[in-house]
Amino acid sequence: MYWTALTLILLVQKAFGQGRAPMMRFSCSQLVTDRIDPLVNPGAIPSPHLHQIVGGNSFNATMDPSTHDLPTDSTCTSCTFSEDFSNYWTAVLYFQARNGTLRRVPQFPNVGLKGNGGITVYYIPPYDGSKVTAFKPGFRMLVGDASLRTQGKDRKVCHRCMLANGDRNNIECSSPDTQYLPKTPCGGGIRTVITFPTCWDGVNTDSPNHESHVAYPPKGIFDNNAACPSTHPVKIPQVMYEVMWDTRPFNDKSLWPEDGSQPFVWSTNDKTGYSQHGDYVFGWKGDALQRALDAKCTGNTCSVLKVQSDAEAMKCTKKPLYQEAQDWITELPGMGAMTN
Ligand SMILES: *[C@@H]1O[C@H](CO)[C@@H](O)[C@H](O)[C@H]1NC(C)=O
Ligand SMILES: *[C@@H]1O[C@H](CO)[C@@H](O)[C@H](O)[C@H]1NC(C)=O
Repeated sequence: MYWTALTLILLVQKAFGQGRAPMMRFSCSQLVTDRIDPLVNPGAIPSPHLHQIVGGNSFNATMDPSTHDLPTDSTCTSCTFSEDFSNYWTAVLYFQARNGTLRRVPQFPNVGLKGNGGITVYYIPPYDGSKVTAFKPGFRMLVGDASLRTQGKDRKVCHRCMLANGDRNNIECSSPDTQYLPKTPCGGGIRTVITFPTCWDGVNTDSPNHESHVAYPPKGIFDNNAACPSTHPVKIPQVMYEVMWDTRPFNDKSLWPEDGSQPFVWSTNDKTGYSQHGDYVFGWKGDALQRALDAKCTGNTCSVLKVQSDAEAMKCTKKPLYQEAQDWITELPGMGAMTN
């Protein structure tokens, strides 16, 4: 089945139980896959595990907001909206063969989008059309925990076992989506969904754990009409990532572990799936994001934003700062001998 971008937006809106609320949804192609993490391990080359990164090419091991300005330091972005020099990143998925060899699972473009399948980025304002405040320069945050190996109470990060013929009408990380990695082959690959908070303390662009300056509404992660807590009164757009992992080349059960377990492992050395996480460093130029939110832009076109072609976006890449083999390996980058 062929899904147009608009159909998909409507589907997502329907899944959220809303009418035709505006919702930006666009593609950011892969900028680089590298072992750096300017948020959690600033300055470290290498950082503990491998990430796939999209967005502006000023991405670096250190991105101190007092000296690093993403829109001026970048010369290109891998995102559709060419004034978005933000960086978005997640862990990387591997397939482990029976003989121990690790293959990087390729990524593919999301429904209705083109590009090379880095990250599909959403900015979702409150459905009721109320005022939403764009992030300020220097703003950053993260969702998820690379050390998590058991199920968390909140459905912030989940996996969707995609059907061969398309999407499932559900975007809230509830059943059939799971926080753990799917245990059976997925005919349409695996989609990871990472959902960020919608409330900000209005003061701090960061916090020591990169989380406590933002909050989900007490009523729930996906109810972005819900009132923000008094500690975090400012409504921010809900940032959401979708990453499409093309696990289809690895669906042959004869390639799967003989003990019946599933063969995919995050670059954090995690086969449970709970350790997937998303990091965000805001880098839109000037007031471009606020303009787009005020204009209620929807999908990957927007009259008040500059748009570049997918071919142009895919040209924006950089070399990893840390050089190492990332594919056809027997140990995950930085992780030592496999325990599985
Ligand atoms: C990354 O940071 C290093 C050290 O500060 C600097 O020399 C280099 O130019 C930076 N690269 C980019 C792409 O900004
Ligand atoms: C390990 O298994 C993979 C996948 O079946 C295969 O492509 C590769 O050649 C094997 N490597 C070795 C060293 O046998």
